[in-house]
Amino acid sequence: MPVLQELQRNHATISDFAMQVIADELGIHPAEVYGVTSFYAFLRQESRGRFVFRLCQTVSCDLAGKSRVACQLENDLGIGFGETTADGRFSLEWASCLGMCDQGPALLVNDRIFTRVTPERVHEIIDECKRTFGAHARQAAHA
Ligand code: FES
Repeated sequence: MPVLQELQRNHATISDFAMQVIADELGIHPAEVYGVTSFYAFLRQESRGRFVFRLCQTVSCDLAGKSRVACQLENDLGIGFGETTADGRFSLEWASCLGMCDQGPALLVNDRIFTRVTPERVHEIIDECKRTFGAHARQAAHA
């Protein structure tokens, strides 16, 4: 699992070739690596955006107003759940319980958790991501 997490952190996706290499290095069957990768929703084989928004869809967050937050996310990002923006910056996904049930709606953006998210807060979170992305892009251009 740590190998897969590190691979995803550095490359955003886990390719078939990478799974084969991991299996060879660990001396296990590739099907075992594929099984782990496909079981955990946070490990993905297809490419995703720079910022992956995962909104909890479990009952406590549902009761806390998750639907309004979901609509705001779709509206602001211009994509539906399970989609990635054309510029590759944002992906939107559903998540199961994030362990913050008493502070819902809970939203995970990459590895940062946001609690008691409101539609108004969605604007701020997305703006913060855009500023971060812009800063990274400028650094990369000067490197
Ligand atoms: S139900 Fe949403 S964090 Fe647990």
